[in-house]
Amino acid sequence: MKAYEIPKGATKLEDLHKAERPDPKPGPSDVLVRIRAAALNYRDHAILTGKYRYDSDHDTIPCSDGAGEVVAVGASVTRFKPGDRVIPTFFQVWIDGAPPKNRGALGSPLDGTLAELVALHEDGWVAMPKSLSFEEAATLPCAGPTAWNALMNVGTRVKPGDTVLSLGTGGVSMFALQFARAAGARVIVTSSSDAKIECALALGASDGVNYKTHPDWEKEVIALTGGRGVDCVIENGGVGTLARSFECLGYGGKVALIGVLAGPHGNANPHDLMFKNASLHGIGVGSRASLEQLIQAIEVNGIKPIVEKVFPFDQAADAFLLQASGNFLGKIVIAV
Ligand SMILES: NC(=O)c1ccc[n+]([C@@H]2O[C@H](COP(=O)([O-])OP(=O)(O)OC[C@H]3O[C@@H](n4cnc5c(N)ncnc54)[C@H](OP(=O)(O)O)[C@@H]3O)[C@@H](O)[C@H]2O)c1
Repeated sequence: MKAYEIPKGATKLEDLHKAERPDPKPGPSDVLVRIRAAALNYRDHAILTGKYRYDSDHDTIPCSDGAGEVVAVGASVTRFKPGDRVIPTFFQVWIDGAPPKNRGALGSPLDGTLAELVALHEDGWVAMPKSLSFEEAATLPCAGPTAWNALMNVGTRVKPGDTVLSLGTGGVSMFALQFARAAGARVIVTSSSDAKIECALALGASDGVNYKTHPDWEKEVIALTGGRGVDCVIENGGVGTLARSFECLGYGGKVALIGVLAGPHGNANPHDLMFKNASLHGIGVGSRASLEQLIQAIEVNGIKPIVEKVFPFDQAADAFLLQASGNFLGKIVIAV
């Protein structure tokens, strides 16, 4: 089969290359899927350029996200049959509840989805939402549960009338916008670009703050809430934006700590949370159960993932380049 590979020790875009791999043979509990689309996350570019927190000790097929059609199942498989449309779970060994220590993520350390065929244990797949195309469904496995858990499964669940602040307009942020709106919440976004803010407003955000032209963006956010502060922050900036996110929080609010976009240095003080009865929650993508929950929400609410562009398989490097540029909204997809 055709696949892409990131070689061990990769540090740059040019290290991404096409490879011929033997077709995977499904074991007794495995499901073999012909992949139709794969999707990129910030993480995939970080892995390719040697900036991910874990170094791989082997050549790896990139991408955690994808969608495809079952072509064969092992003798013991009961959950799927040939012809079913499926997407993989980001972690292969986390079905529900608290995360196990060794969960095994696709795209690193496990081989990922940027390949014609993928065989995984039947527990590592879920049925694709019927309302989505392969290209749309491929975007869900990583950013979907991350946004869903931040809103719905850590701390106080976001409810109608709450205000959510979503930092940036990438994959996690746009899912957070769509899920929060479906839950009846108001959403404020931040972005480096007025044009992207316009798009977010068209998708249901109530307001946007450009953090380039308003470096003290937390003051704008607080003003937009009439001084009350927000109930939930989708903290994609990480340590570098955390102090401002604490400022934005209203009493009893929560920060879902997700990203690393604003760098490793910051001056957040946890005392700011204490005086507001507020909380900080780490997010590590999520379990299969959380992916299944958000798929239900997608089907019931008619949510369509925001796909900036679908690249042909041969132009996967251009897809990674666009991801690195930041000049996109939502998700970037590669047809397989
Ligand atoms: N913890 C987890 O489980 C988990 C899961 C998924 C992702 N993540 C992390 O979450 C972050 C977002 O991931 P993603 O895949 O959604 O990224 P993405 O699709 O690549 O989106 C990145 C966007 O974030 C915005 N951004 C860039 N620098 C920023 C900054 N300093 N402050 C605020 N926003 C900034 C930019 O949008 P604008 O131009 O609009 O500002 C950029 O386009 C990454 O750090 C990723 O590693 C963590």
